[in-house]
Amino acid sequence: MTRSEFIRNLGMSSGALMALYCMGGLTACANEEPKPADRSGKLDLSLDLNSTDYSKLQNNGEFVIVKGQPIIVARKTDGNFVAVSKDCTHRGQELTYQASTDHFNCPLHGAHFSTTGSVLKGPATTPLKQYKTAFNGKTNTLRLYEE
Ligand code: FES
Repeated sequence: MTRSEFIRNLGMSSGALMALYCMGGLTACANEEPKPADRSGKLDLSLDLNSTDYSKLQNNGEFVIVKGQPIIVARKTDGNFVAVSKDCTHRGQELTYQASTDHFNCPLHGAHFSTTGSVLKGPATTPLKQYKTAFNGKTNTLRLYEE
């Protein structure tokens, strides 16, 4: 009997298998998506700007979608970070950030949002959710959180 057959015979779910895998200290688990760390249910996570997923944020005017989270983060041309919900409030299209106008834009029907999430141009009428940001230059990490 192979190892996988043995585990399958135990009737373990894929989640249980992943938990076992991670308990073994394998490095694959260290690279998983950031998860909220706050027990209050409010989002609180940290992005490593040295990682390939977020290294674009080392440059002013760039943006990324946070892996596994409904958040878009942009680094403005002045170097400050802004974070809002990534999906347009009109029909849910994923937004982009345009540094030249300092707006989040919807490529589907053309809505524009400010960096605080307010609607600048319809057809969207509901603002985006804004997240707090805190950059640590020593560790090159960006904290995203809710208060
Ligand atoms: S989905 Fe964004 S404006 Fe329609």
